[in-house]
Amino acid sequence: PTAAAPRLTVIGTGYLGATHAVCMAALGYEVLGVDVDPGKIERLNSGEVPFYEPGLPELLAKAMDSGRLRFSTSLAEAADFGDVHFLCVGTPQQRGSNAADLSFVHAATDELARHLRRRALVVGKSTVPVGTAAALADRVRSLAPAGEEVELAWNPEFLREGFAVEDTLHPDRLVFGVTSAWAEERLRAAFAPVIGEGTPVVTTDLATAELVKTAANSFLATKISYINAMAEVCEATGADVQKLAEALAYDDRIGGRFLRPGLGFGGGCLPKDIRAFIHRAEELRVGQAVAFLREVDEINKRRRARTVSLIRELAGGDPAGIRVAALGASFKPDSDDIRDAPALDVAATLHAAGARVRVFDPVAMDNARRACPQLDYAADALDAAAGADVVVLLTEWTEFREIDPAAMGAVVAHRRIVDGRHALDPAQWRAAGWTYRALGRP
Ligand code: UGA
Repeated sequence: PTAAAPRLTVIGTGYLGATHAVCMAALGYEVLGVDVDPGKIERLNSGEVPFYEPGLPELLAKAMDSGRLRFSTSLAEAADFGDVHFLCVGTPQQRGSNAADLSFVHAATDELARHLRRRALVVGKSTVPVGTAAALADRVRSLAPAGEEVELAWNPEFLREGFAVEDTLHPDRLVFGVTSAWAEERLRAAFAPVIGEGTPVVTTDLATAELVKTAANSFLATKISYINAMAEVCEATGADVQKLAEALAYDDRIGGRFLRPGLGFGGGCLPKDIRAFIHRAEELRVGQAVAFLREVDEINKRRRARTVSLIRELAGGDPAGIRVAALGASFKPDSDDIRDAPALDVAATLHAAGARVRVFDPVAMDNARRACPQLDYAADALDAAAGADVVVLLTEWTEFREIDPAAMGAVVAHRRIVDGRHALDPAQWRAAGWTYRALGRP
């Protein structure tokens, strides 16, 4: 950034906001991160990242040392400090509905706007239903003392948990939804080092920028459910979905990424984003256009149910009283996020059916305990497997891939494993005397 570089604020310091704040400071900007949760702010100010994200703690420490980054609970302070304000608050699924809950977005923008006394750009990064940005732009202008001087832009975020730093510093593309040349210039100034590396910038209107995000996540979810639908067909025919996916992937037009069959998608984004998209499209009377996303959601949920039934089959039908070792709780490896985690869902369903489930996850134990206190938690994978009738791999952590089937075989009651993520080598496990089952494989 140059001497004229804008000062940045990041409002909301969850996975997205904390990463964005730290990375922007690492790129050389002056950054103020803001959150309503004083506990979170205290931890961040003392140099602690409140969630698991590889590489982020080191980068936070560096940014704090540089003096360019600090955190506060005050939006008045943010309004005073910043030229460009990034909105990174959550948009969870509403209780009892598929719609996105925009209450955090509205609360944060309203409060910020009331303090904006000079020219500023408010940039939404949260995932919102299309049309939200235009409404927010009006609201911000009407509430801000600076009035027309305050503009709103939309800059969707595509980072993946587990690769958040890499994705923020070196994104595939930047999308700038703007309504004026000034807003575009401000955004370009706020991302100058990233753009300088040759990152493509797609400039759009507000609605298109909002939709890019929803469309991207819907496509990714569809790709996963497509291969999982093929897994269902494979199971009915004795075919092997793993081989099928491998063969499809050699066609560049299809590609192998996000074509990994298994227990399906979870997390704080894909499931709720497709549901919110269906809801929004129906409001706009174009529900038919995205009706297939309902099927994408259903296929995904059936993978969880099928995993539970595979475990039942292996245990002889009745889950009551059987001992299940559940390896994994987070929604994917390299994350402690358990939001809509297929792993915990399967574990909790088995428990509700009377099974005795012992869970181990390398980093998500605290979150899992809070969300599912009814389950039993183990000290490590072997401890979880001790005396188990069935072992089930639910999240493909590297340490689970490296388990020695003979060592685990020595502690279980029965050598039966369900590989929910196609993470293990069936030949190796079978050679060690295990009955190995995986979704969509003979
Ligand atoms: C996802 C998108 O990949 C990001 O681009 C997006 O920015 C983010 O949501 C968001 O909206 O914030 P994330 O939720 O971190 O990122 O996780 P992914 O790596 O996309 O994985 C999602 C789920 O799909 C996981 O449960 C994973 O196990 C599952 N998955 C992924 C599969 O079952 N098969 C695959 O081939 C790939």
